[in-house]
Amino acid sequence: EKYEEAVAYQHRREEISNLPVDSGWGNIPGRLYKGFWFPEPILYGVLSLRRNFRPAPSDIFLATCPKSGTTWLKALAFVICSRGSNGPQSMILSRNPHDCYPNIENFYIKPQVPDLDAMPSPRLMATHTPYSLLPESVRDEESPSCCRIIYLCREPKDTLVSTYHFANGISGSDESMISMAEAVELFCKGHSPYGPVWEHQLEYWAESRRRPDKVLFLKYEDLKAEPEANVRMMARFMGRPITAEEEADGTVAEIVGLCSFEKLSGLEVNRVGVRMNGSGRAIKNSLHFRKGKVGDWREHLSPEMADKVDAVTRDKLNGTGLSH
Ligand code: A3P
Repeated sequence: EKYEEAVAYQHRREEISNLPVDSGWGNIPGRLYKGFWFPEPILYGVLSLRRNFRPAPSDIFLATCPKSGTTWLKALAFVICSRGSNGPQSMILSRNPHDCYPNIENFYIKPQVPDLDAMPSPRLMATHTPYSLLPESVRDEESPSCCRIIYLCREPKDTLVSTYHFANGISGSDESMISMAEAVELFCKGHSPYGPVWEHQLEYWAESRRRPDKVLFLKYEDLKAEPEANVRMMARFMGRPITAEEEADGTVAEIVGLCSFEKLSGLEVNRVGVRMNGSGRAIKNSLHFRKGKVGDWREHLSPEMADKVDAVTRDKLNGTGLSH
């Protein structure tokens, strides 16, 4: 089996090295695979995940396009799931949410297949992988191990501005910084990490409409406007509904408060901590918390830039039922 996996890894190397390449964001080469731009190191993980992942029916995938609120979704899901038991909930106070569980594709980057059987159930699997590229077994509704998925999407202009700041924040050198004009250009062409962002959202959107019992589609803006209603929805979907007793004792408000931008960004671990991301870069935890606002694009995009992104959004979402 080890030999077979080593051969498969070699095949993946060859396959990836033949894909279109472009380094636009923060110096990490992007590779175009089946319509989406992946950071090259992560694509190894995505391909191996597709080949090697063994789902359990209780698995819950937390899917996002980067800079759409992944950190927030991870924190909320973790706290919702672990509430009631002593210990894990407080982990969110001493660990960055990405260290509670890294993205699943990051486990699969190395040639060795990871053993995830020991993870506590339900296993929370965060991912940036587009829906169409998730392992077949996770998506197959006929399969007994077909998984639940929570998708969090965000308005594209805010996602773009957040991506721009993050990419420049991790770039490490002046030469690899990009201008906002370049970022808008790349983003609108669909060339952003795991982009095009519209296709990423639409794949999950379509699936959530087809199978609402298995795919829950959330919006960053709704979560901001009505956090408690969204927490209740998530808890129900995850099979851990808020009980009458919890309603009475303020548990929902507590979860919202614990996972809020203000709370998490003020924690020592998130102010001074550093972690390695999937591409092997040291990332300051503070970079995961910038402003956490809806509509911050107004501070950063010229009217022309905003119009350009909006035009693409209108064009791509037209007739899909998804709106921002
Ligand atoms: P901004 O750059 O607009 O501030 P991701 O977690 O997918 O990388 O997304 C990062 C974005 O989510 C950043 O947006 C970040 O500030 C925001 N964010 C992080 N934690 C948050 C929280 N608890 N509540 C709301 N927004 C949060």
